Amino acid sequence: MAKATFSFPRGFMWGTATSSHQVEGNNTNNNWWDWEQTPGNIINGHKSGLACDWWGGRWREDFDRAGETGQNFHRLSIEWSRIQPTPDRWDEDALDHYREMIRGLHERDLTPMVTLHHFTDPIWVSETGGWEQESIVGFFEAYTRKVVEALHAFVPYWVTINEPSVYSIFGYWYGLFPPGKKSIRGIVQVAENMARAHSASYQAIHDVQPDALVGLAHHYRDFKPARNWFPLDRWETAFQFQIFNDLFPDVFHDGILRLPVKRKRIPEARGTQDFFGLNYYTREKLAFNLLKPGDSFSRRFFDPGADLSDTGFLANEPLGLYEILQHIRKYRLPIIITENGVEDTDDHMRPRYLIQHLHQVWRAANFNWPVMGYFHWSLVDNFEWERGWTQRFGLWELDVDTQARRKRSSVDLYAAICRDNALSSDLIEQYAPELINGLLPG
Ligand code: FCB
Repeated sequence: MAKATFSFPRGFMWGTATSSHQVEGNNTNNNWWDWEQTPGNIINGHKSGLACDWWGGRWREDFDRAGETGQNFHRLSIEWSRIQPTPDRWDEDALDHYREMIRGLHERDLTPMVTLHHFTDPIWVSETGGWEQESIVGFFEAYTRKVVEALHAFVPYWVTINEPSVYSIFGYWYGLFPPGKKSIRGIVQVAENMARAHSASYQAIHDVQPDALVGLAHHYRDFKPARNWFPLDRWETAFQFQIFNDLFPDVFHDGILRLPVKRKRIPEARGTQDFFGLNYYTREKLAFNLLKPGDSFSRRFFDPGADLSDTGFLANEPLGLYEILQHIRKYRLPIIITENGVEDTDDHMRPRYLIQHLHQVWRAANFNWPVMGYFHWSLVDNFEWERGWTQRFGLWELDVDTQARRKRSSVDLYAAICRDNALSSDLIEQYAPELINGLLPG
């Protein structure tokens, strides 16, 4: 075997990512908690419940784990419904609680990246019509100001909104997320309001904290035509790529929201990202299919030969990450991979998935593409939205009944990569020997 070291740029950001509702527990005052109470919404009737009990204080032990295993960053989110439980009340104790957590990160030499909105809304926001109403723009701006005024001294990186495309499509078209609608009108309004709300939030953060670095976390799926020779498959792929992937990055680049039904100018959105946050998990094939009107006439599937995850939810497609990084260079922003990972209870695929994806990140960085960091999803198993507790994305395993954590072997692999700021052939041989021939031929 050829010996090699794939070194990452100096100062590379190494972290894990989490979100409030998925880890805190007892977020009783948001729309997801409500949604979980209705049978049929969450697989097996699972509930977030105590989640990873971070609100009860277990963030301390999990931050210890992150800090002791070579990570230098952590991405977490603030729960709006805790900060502003009703429209006329700010909860200063909740802000103190977050201040303590964020200081706790610094004490462990972990730099915080803080997300303001990660899928959940306070119940009162939903009751006003949520993201379908223009009033959300002012609400989100006021919430942003409150949080940033309280925490700016400790937070260099802000993510305003996590995955606006997933939020709008899953909540207003697939009906899988609250409010469970299937409405073209709804999705169009949500998209416009998200574009406006991010822009207002971006300005508010910079008003309070001029040197802040502000972005979003954009979910990209790498779509490929099932039959390259078939124009309708190619059309379908381009269409989905635009709607699911490029729609929001485009509006924050040039101020034009290119919806299928109309184009809308949102001039204040232009140039409102200081970095490009990328969430990448997998690649899919798309075939035009008249029987699938709900998915714009496409049938989606993983490559038949693909290396599939535990529950068949993801295909391990590292080249997709490389190609997406190549694609998003057009936005001319520093890139941070804000999420990447796989659900894998027994940790039989995660080491391979991690190594292969990081190898592609390394390739990109070595072409001097501006990739600044990588956040693995996730630190510890957590509540996986409509898939409940059936999917285990954590480096650490969680026993939901006892709150006990158990280390998966990927922990030591990721720790070695973070500490060395490099991926070595020795690590590959130790954790995923099946990759040696592919990654280190000769
Ligand atoms: C992303 C979400 C994150 C988690 C991972 C698996 O789309 O941002 O909360 O659910 O997928």
